Amino acid sequence: MALATDELIALRARVRGRPLPRHVAVIMDGNGRWATQRGLPRLAGHREGSQSVRAVTRAARELGVKALTLYAFSSQNWLRPPTEVAGLMELLRDYLESERREVMQNNVRLRAIGELSRLPRLVRAPLDALIADSAHHDGLQLVLALSYGGREELVSAARRLAREVLAGKLAPRDIDEARLRGALDTGDLPDPDLVIRTSGERRLSNFLLFQIAYAELAFVDVAWPEFREAELLQAIDDYQGRERRFGKTGAQVKAK
Ligand code: FPP
Repeated sequence: MALATDELIALRARVRGRPLPRHVAVIMDGNGRWATQRGLPRLAGHREGSQSVRAVTRAARELGVKALTLYAFSSQNWLRPPTEVAGLMELLRDYLESERREVMQNNVRLRAIGELSRLPRLVRAPLDALIADSAHHDGLQLVLALSYGGREELVSAARRLAREVLAGKLAPRDIDEARLRGALDTGDLPDPDLVIRTSGERRLSNFLLFQIAYAELAFVDVAWPEFREAELLQAIDDYQGRERRFGKTGAQVKAK
């Protein structure tokens, strides 16, 4: 829903005045449908979606959100037509090159999760460079999920732990939640407090399966290319009105 300027200003103030989600994770869906509905090629939707990535990242940074994870390319997206995969990789490269200055000037730390070794060099080179160059930043942590799948991540964590057991460095009884968490790609990142999925679909699609155990879910109807600052603020505003109980009763939570 489009907001008038004064409504946007009021919404910004309301959201800033209450506790923010530390970590927001987004399933950016609906690029293809957005384009098709306008008689455009699917890639035009992804291109417009890149603009939303820029706008939402800036808005999250200005708000003071600590971490933003964006599901940019799933393990399963490799199955799309080769021209779409190639177009997405070129868009990613363009994004990494054009956002470099924004990341470096604004204390943003870029990270990536997923099977990065599967990415073509044209993405891997600017990605690795920006991850290394921004590693000392302590502002917004911007995490790109690339060639990422939650099940794949859990399988590789299990393998990592099994290797440690085999090497005699770890006893099976010492494998606990913290140990498993540490073997995941997300490492020391806090769990997402809020997961947003755009375009009206209500699925998790293999996204951060371990980490979102207690996340609040927001399914919004707008397609990703139309999701910008106002839509992010609306999702956070809704999140701020929820009661998170983590298995406790409402009375226990209120007493605290
Ligand atoms: C889902 O829409 C979106 C993707 C598979 C790719 C997301 C990519 C971008 C937003 C652009 C590039 C990313 C960055 C970080 C610059 P869909 O194609 O599945 O939409 P549909 O369900 O309508 O077909």
